[in-house]
Parts: sequence; structure tokens; C-alpha cells
Amino acid sequence: MSDSKPSARETAAFAGLVKADLRPDAPAATKIGVRGLRKRFAVKGRPVDALAGIDLDIRTGEFFCVVGPSGCGKTTLLRILAGLDTQTAGDIRVSRDQPVQASNPQTSAERPLNAMIFQEQSIFPWMNVRDNVAFGLKARGIPRNERYRIVEPYVRKVGLEGFADALPHQLSGGMKQRVSIARAFANDPEILLMDEPFAALDEQTKLILQTELIRIWEETRKTVVYVTHSIDEAIVLSDRIMVMSARPGRIKEIIDVADVFARPRLVETVKSSPQYGEVFGRVWALLRDEVVGRPEQLLSHVR
Ligand SMILES: Nc1ncnc2c1ncn2[C@@H]1O[C@H](COP(=O)(O)OP(=O)(O)O)[C@@H](O)[C@H]1O
Ligand SMILES: [Mg+2]
Repeated sequence: MSDSKPSARETAAFAGLVKADLRPDAPAATKIGVRGLRKRFAVKGRPVDALAGIDLDIRTGEFFCVVGPSGCGKTTLLRILAGLDTQTAGDIRVSRDQPVQASNPQTSAERPLNAMIFQEQSIFPWMNVRDNVAFGLKARGIPRNERYRIVEPYVRKVGLEGFADALPHQLSGGMKQRVSIARAFANDPEILLMDEPFAALDEQTKLILQTELIRIWEETRKTVVYVTHSIDEAIVLSDRIMVMSARPGRIKEIIDVADVFARPRLVETVKSSPQYGEVFGRVWALLRDEVVGRPEQLLSHVR
């Protein structure tokens, strides 16, 4: 995805239209339950283990960050959760907020299970901001007036008021990622999956978007699984940080951040607090072990 245009399935993932093979029966306090998850790719006939047994419970309404060395399987994990890839072994269960009614099974207007935000700008160049944000709703057959009514507050929440009629070529990179964020929230998915959504942005834009993401998330309390290279970003955003080992990806440790930094959270306050350095040090110590001997990876984590 990062080096090419999105595939049709990836496009469907923006809109929450991919039916992941997830069992809707995890206990309510657990939004996503992962058991014995493994993924093996075949590369030129040789097996490559990307994930080597992940057991994990992500809580309802949790902001869950995943950090780990490049190639440890973070994107693979997210793609499996999104239904874009299938696991080699293991089981994923997601609890539905509202059970799908038996009388209304699988209609196109059904609330999507997930929506994915990718690193690269994945908005349609020929659609204005409003229609990009409304893409998933349109795909689910929601009439025009209704979908415009739904998207309007999200366009505003991501700071694009006044740009609803603008086309993507008129927007900066940061504004395009705002469109992706608004689209994902407007879809009202049960879980939001984000794969390094701000990695390609400059530092200032990243800070502003982190702040806005925290604010929107605090209003909606969606369950988010957020992959990032940046320890800094993980600390600022997350309730818990899962640190993964180098490939094949395993869970190295899960660090509780919600205990340390209360909500609502201000990025500046978190970064200037004495505990920040302490949490950073703990995560970095875990990651450092994994990237030693891979100097090309060292820099990307401390950015
Ligand atoms: N479609 C694929 N086919 C073969 N190998 C893949 C494929 N996707 C990912 N991999 C391999 O799986 C491993 C994990 O990749 P990925 O999940 O993209 O890592 P990360 O997102 O943590 O950088 C890497 O070694 C990568 O080369
Ligand atoms: Mg990745």
C-alpha cells in the first residue's frame, strides 16, 4: 500500500466494507480478543514468519498502540484485523456494540466493523472533501442529504470547515490525512485501525494532528489500534503500548500508559512531564534490544 495506489480491497477498507472473518462474540469488556495468531508468508517458495503467536485482549474504548522494529509484522497484524489478509493460524474475536438484528442481517447499511487509515494519503483525487469523507456512507447506500448531514460535524472536527468543496490537489499533506481521519470516524466503525497515519508528515503538522486525534477520540472513545514507529507518538496517544519483537513478531511487553497520564490529555503536558522520560526509557530499552545489530532501524524510532 505504501508504495502504490490502494487496491480495490484496500479502498473498501476505508469505507468499512471489508467483511473481516472475525467472530462477534468476545466478552463485552474486551473489544478485540486475539489468540494464537500466526502469519506465514511464502516468499519465492520460502516461508517467512511475520507473526509468531500473538495473544492479546484489547479493551473496549481503548487507544492501543503497537510499536516494533520495521518488518516485525505490525502492518500484517492490522491488515488481518481489517480483513485484508488472512491469518495462517489463530483466532480473532470482536465484540459488537450492537448485535446485528436477525431481521436485518448483513444489509449494506449495517454499521461497519472496522475502518482503516493508512500511512499514505488514500483519498480520491476526483472527489471533493465532503464526498471523500462521505465515501463509506455512500457505499453503504445512505442517501445524499443524510450522508452530508452526518459528515458535516466530522469535517468541522478535523479543522476542514470551509474546505468541504475543495479538491485534494488544493490541500496540503496534513489536510489530506485529516480527510482520511474524518472519513474513518464518520463511518462510525466499531474499531479503528491506523497504520502510521502521520509518518509522512512534518513535525509541526504531526503535532497538530496528534492533538486533534486525541480530542476526537476523547469525544468518541472508539477502540483504536494504532501502529507507529514513534515511541513519542505512542506515549502521547495511547492507553497501552504493545512493544513487539523483531520478526517473527511476538509481544515483548505491554506497557500501561493510561496509569501514568490521565485523560483528557494535552500533548505538551505529557511531553513536559517528568514521567514522560521514564516511560520513553522503558519503551526504548525494549526496542533497543530488538534493533541492535540493525543500525538502519535505530533512527526511525527516536524521531
Ligand atoms: N504480502 C507479503 N508477502 C510476503 N511477505 C510479506 C508480505 N507482507 C509482509 N511480508 C513480510 O512480513 C514481514 C512483516 O511485514 P510488515 O507487517 O509489513 O512489517 P511492519 O509493518 O512491522 O514493518 C516482513 O518481513 C515483510 O517482508
Ligand atoms: Mg508497516
